[in-house]
Amino acid sequence: MKTLDHKKPSKTQELTYELKVEQVMRKNVTTLKPDSTMKDVRRILRNNKISGIPVVADDRLVGIVTIEDFIICLLEGGEIDGKVENRMTKNVVTVYSDEPIVQVVGKFEKSGYGRFPVVDRDNKKLVGIITKGDIIEGLLKKLEIDYQKEEIHTYRASHIFEDVISDNSTLILKYRIKGGEFKKAGEQTSKLRKSLLRLGFLPETIRRVAIATFEAEMNIVIFTPEGELVAKIQPDKIMVNAIDSGPGIPDVKKAMRQGYSTAPDWVRELGFGAGMGLPNIKNYSDEMTLESKVNEGTNLNFVIYTKKK
Ligand SMILES: Nc1ncnc2c1ncn2[C@@H]1O[C@H](COP(=O)(O)OP(=O)(O)O)[C@@H](O)[C@H]1O
Ligand SMILES: [Mg+2]
Repeated sequence: MKTLDHKKPSKTQELTYELKVEQVMRKNVTTLKPDSTMKDVRRILRNNKISGIPVVADDRLVGIVTIEDFIICLLEGGEIDGKVENRMTKNVVTVYSDEPIVQVVGKFEKSGYGRFPVVDRDNKKLVGIITKGDIIEGLLKKLEIDYQKEEIHTYRASHIFEDVISDNSTLILKYRIKGGEFKKAGEQTSKLRKSLLRLGFLPETIRRVAIATFEAEMNIVIFTPEGELVAKIQPDKIMVNAIDSGPGIPDVKKAMRQGYSTAPDWVRELGFGAGMGLPNIKNYSDEMTLESKVNEGTNLNFVIYTKKK
């Protein structure tokens, strides 16, 4: 086993939280209809050098046919003029265009599939397709852009804390979060992240704060009706308080275990609920406390010490 410095999430790791599927997916998808034939499959596989083709009826995804399906068709002596709908996989694992990449990476790991059709969360229409290759390409592109931006920021940042003389000056930022709003999940963390960037904190510090805050934000979105993030920023440390109005955690020790999750199935289908949120927060912060009362709410605090440039 490689020894990883867990307090130092990599830039790519942070980007997987920030990038959305729609930013890296391929939008021009070659599709088939249920009554297309296996001959069409052969032609498309050949010409487009792809390995899976979504099958669509009225803009809705109804299946996927892959190179394996084609080979099986041949091996079974199946008719090359036979309809695709008899050969395709109908229970397709899909992802939503607004999901963060980190969830898709998890789905790739779990499912072993090589590609996921991308559908719109609201109207369920097929809008793209995503492979591991697309993710890598998207990450590399974003890394390059961000690298340039961060360099510029380093020069332009106001570095206000460097001018602060008093020892106990605290900048307080506050963000409200509504439960159940999966579409907006991660937005408040993004705002905090941008403010920290402008304040001139080191990218590595910001990454740790962003990942821990994202997990806290997600827990409020998934498990509670509403909550609030308060970041207290001082030159030498960033303190984040995530507080919500229920339902509370009956067994905090258990909730802290890796892989422990009470997320319902539909939430897991969205790619959340891996039970790594609280362990990640503990990992990336320097101090963490979690207090919770059933039917009242949960109060999570974590501190990340900053390094001066
Ligand atoms: N703010 C919260 N309110 C109520 N329950 C929570 C809250 N945060 C976490 N939990 C509970 O702790 C468990 C573990 O949380 P976490 O480690 O983030 O994993 P996950 O979010 O993937 O389930 C959750 O499944 C849930 O039961
Ligand atoms: Mg969580």
